[in-house]
Amino acid sequence: MPTICTADLSTGVRDIDRGTEGLCYLMGRLFEPGVECRRVDGQCDRTQCTRISALMKFMDRNFTHQENLMDEADYPHQDHHRREHWRILEQLRHMRDANVCADRDRAVVREVVAHWMGSHVPHCDRALGSWALTRRVREPG
Ligand SMILES: [Fe+2]
Repeated sequence: MPTICTADLSTGVRDIDRGTEGLCYLMGRLFEPGVECRRVDGQCDRTQCTRISALMKFMDRNFTHQENLMDEADYPHQDHHRREHWRILEQLRHMRDANVCADRDRAVVREVVAHWMGSHVPHCDRALGSWALTRRVREPG
């Protein structure tokens, strides 16, 4: 699990925090020793990593949720925030296409996600949370 998940990543908005907590949980599960990569045809051939795909799918869902909140709250910094979402998905996509493996190369994948989270959550997500609370689009919680 990335050490960033032990830090206070709360934004004050429950739906944003739920996404971050889910990502921390998923990161912990994906990199547990002995987790088998599920493949349609059986054995993992260490191409197009399915764990990276699972991570991307979860993050993409979180991002859509946040981006809907941005629209709802008429958030003024959405271009930058959306770009940051796009940036990590692109980075993971490139890694997957280059056959980075979340088992063999787990330290690299964890580091990339933890590094991004360590900057994105305290800056971008917290600013969005504050805006949503100030504009009373969400209740604190
Ligand atoms: Fe975000």
